[in-house]
Amino acid sequence: MIVVNTKAYKEGIGRNAVEIAKVMKKVGEKHKVRMALAVQPSDIHAVSNIIETFCQHIDAIEYGSYTGWILPEAVKEAGAKGTLINHSEHLMKIEDIAKAIERAKEVGLEVIVCASNIAITRAIACLNPDCIAIEPPELIGGDISVTKAKPTVVKKAVDEVKKINDEIKVLCGAGIKNGMDVSKAVELGADGILVASGVVKARNKEEILEEMAMAIAHKKQST
Ligand code: G3P
Repeated sequence: MIVVNTKAYKEGIGRNAVEIAKVMKKVGEKHKVRMALAVQPSDIHAVSNIIETFCQHIDAIEYGSYTGWILPEAVKEAGAKGTLINHSEHLMKIEDIAKAIERAKEVGLEVIVCASNIAITRAIACLNPDCIAIEPPELIGGDISVTKAKPTVVKKAVDEVKKINDEIKVLCGAGIKNGMDVSKAVELGADGILVASGVVKARNKEEILEEMAMAIAHKKQST
């Protein structure tokens, strides 16, 4: 699985998000690789009829007086398939993560929870999300991939999660820029990658997504 996070990058907002979604759909279908786009809540409606869409963050709230908070039901109704929570850029307390996972499941949203290290990965795995994304914060947005700088962290995250619940998928992210980084991620046991700048800020998004999708398709064939 390839999850692209648009963050609040200009290149990933509004019409730009729609363009990324179209390229992802094309490349994903061509290589039969699952692709999802994690967007700002305001872009869910525009991209969700093109590509599987995740909302960047939800709040652990229910219908009611919560001005400015993100309601899981609203996200679902706007067309999202899931949500990406506890990103290093939007950390949550563990009790809010637990509640958000529960609420997401209630409304039928898939949940990817980010974790910055192994201890947090273990704690989150006990909450049974659909997916955990290991991302060392110091490598986010940089040019050195987590798979190069911290391969043992990726491997350990996979092992620890699978020990707790082998149905939880594990993604890795931070600094992923090319097909080689993606191949390495899969080799280390990850079920996919979470990427932002490497795709959203790339001049030729199709070319880079092709490279990444081919790396996953190739690994799928060889197993
Ligand atoms: O959510 C993905 C992200 O934090 C990784 O960012 O730019 O290093 O791919 P980047």
